[in-house]
Amino acid sequence: MTTDDRPPAARPGALKGATYGDEWWRHAVIYQIYPRSFADTDGDGIGDLPGIRSHLDHAVDLGADAIWLSPIYPSPGLDVGYDVADHTAVDPVFGTEADFDQLVADAHGRGLRVILDLVMNHTSDQHAWFQASRASREGPFADWYLWRDPAGFDDDGTPQPPNNWLSFFGGSGWQYDEPRQQFYMHTFLVEQPELNWRNPEVEAAQWQMVRGWLDRGVDGFRLDVFNAFLKHPELLANPAREGESPWDRQEHIHDRDSPDFPELIARFRSILDEQPGRMSVGELFASEPERAPALFADRHLVFDWGLLAAPWSAEAYAAAIDGRERYFGEDRWLANVLSNHDQSRQATRLAASAGIDDTDAVARAAAVVLLTLRGTPFLYYGEELGARDVPVPDDRIIDPPARRALVDPDFQWWNRDLCRSPIPWTPDANGHGFTTGSPWLPFGDDASVRNVETESADPGSVLSTYRRLIGLRRSTDALRTGRFRRVELATPDVLSYLRETATERVFVVVDFAGEGRTVDLSGLGTRAWRPVGGTHVEPSTPGADGSLALRPLEAVILVEA
Ligand code: GLC
Repeated sequence: MTTDDRPPAARPGALKGATYGDEWWRHAVIYQIYPRSFADTDGDGIGDLPGIRSHLDHAVDLGADAIWLSPIYPSPGLDVGYDVADHTAVDPVFGTEADFDQLVADAHGRGLRVILDLVMNHTSDQHAWFQASRASREGPFADWYLWRDPAGFDDDGTPQPPNNWLSFFGGSGWQYDEPRQQFYMHTFLVEQPELNWRNPEVEAAQWQMVRGWLDRGVDGFRLDVFNAFLKHPELLANPAREGESPWDRQEHIHDRDSPDFPELIARFRSILDEQPGRMSVGELFASEPERAPALFADRHLVFDWGLLAAPWSAEAYAAAIDGRERYFGEDRWLANVLSNHDQSRQATRLAASAGIDDTDAVARAAAVVLLTLRGTPFLYYGEELGARDVPVPDDRIIDPPARRALVDPDFQWWNRDLCRSPIPWTPDANGHGFTTGSPWLPFGDDASVRNVETESADPGSVLSTYRRLIGLRRSTDALRTGRFRRVELATPDVLSYLRETATERVFVVVDFAGEGRTVDLSGLGTRAWRPVGGTHVEPSTPGADGSLALRPLEAVILVEA
């Protein structure tokens, strides 16, 4: 019997969003941590779990409800952790099993939920399953990966791949393996063999692993490249089409987005639903947003790239937002994301796409959009500082496809190292509070100003802006749950929309231009709009005639008074 009769959300250690019940994630802001780059406590230059524990208050101060950790499992590190050698354990580079359990306990103690990145499409070639699978065509693991005989042999006896499937990381998607005298399939590196999800034993083993993490208190999962799990049962070749790269010159209809996939993801959801309040989001791999709705299950979110792909213009954002609202429909909840560990950081990317130098101003305006659209916002560590891509010289590139692109003229790749540099906690040039050693990737040359300590002290910084915006979101029902309606104000470079519940109306207006713009709000049915937040500490206020003069790259959030 509990003696604490405070509402669940008010009890010490109550998870944030406890008042929202099992679907807390609809109300949440989720913060992605790239563990290598968050905080290093043992001086090896690589972030670790004790480091994350010691900086949980950063996520709390930001107003996040959950942290999502990029892979923490043992890995040879060829795809920087996305090549997993054992999905059930913690990589010693990040700490011990006890460190992980302590991290979950500490996070929960602060009201933060913990989400893991699950890489279930493939494993590392060092995984015990693959080692056993490659050793024998007869053994118990023989059919756990996508093995096929050669389609034939060319004149000099070279085995030919079973079909035309490609690797997203360049070259053929098939690798001939001498021990079995067969090819295995890999959508990514040769060292990332694809699992055979049509084998029920594979599925059962995955669910067992998932339950293991749930039992350790994990609150949900981000599923890596989830729409690639199921391939066409007969591994049919992809049809050819026009395109700029070998990958684009195929229509990827047989190596992903299988029509029977929703049944698989529903089975996954039912495992999560064995315990209350567990969330899941799947990463839509190399697919257009319009394909996302076919990959849904109840209570499962899908990351699409509609928003992330848009350049910084009001027109492009309007088109991306309208497209996503149309494809997903009002009944499906959206997962909104502007940056992650695979993409150029938004401050750099968006400012460059519009030819604007002030990356902080663009970062603040983009934050308003991200945090006021319908859906759950996912932030990527560092974006709250306005962090920019950090250049890495060619001879220090870590990202494997980027290294391939240096030598393969048929293959283009953006070096993902640029968006993965360590977070600077302090201005101290000697490790920036991240490490006492030598960081695994360099800091930007702006780390003495764009760091947590310096920005915390500046109310106008990108960090302070994120904190204010997330706080406003938390206290404003319409921003979290309201219906979305885009509004055309007929002012160039301005994006605007309403978020509405039965009792509250919020209007968001964003000037995408590096110059001021004046909008006319008089057509919105009321003139009583009160600014409650936005990009600037003191947001601009509408005049009595309903006109609102926006400063360059200013976004204002108004409530109906
Ligand atoms: C996902 C990850 C990416 C990784 C790839 C292969 O797209 O986000 O970082 O390289 O899957 O696992």
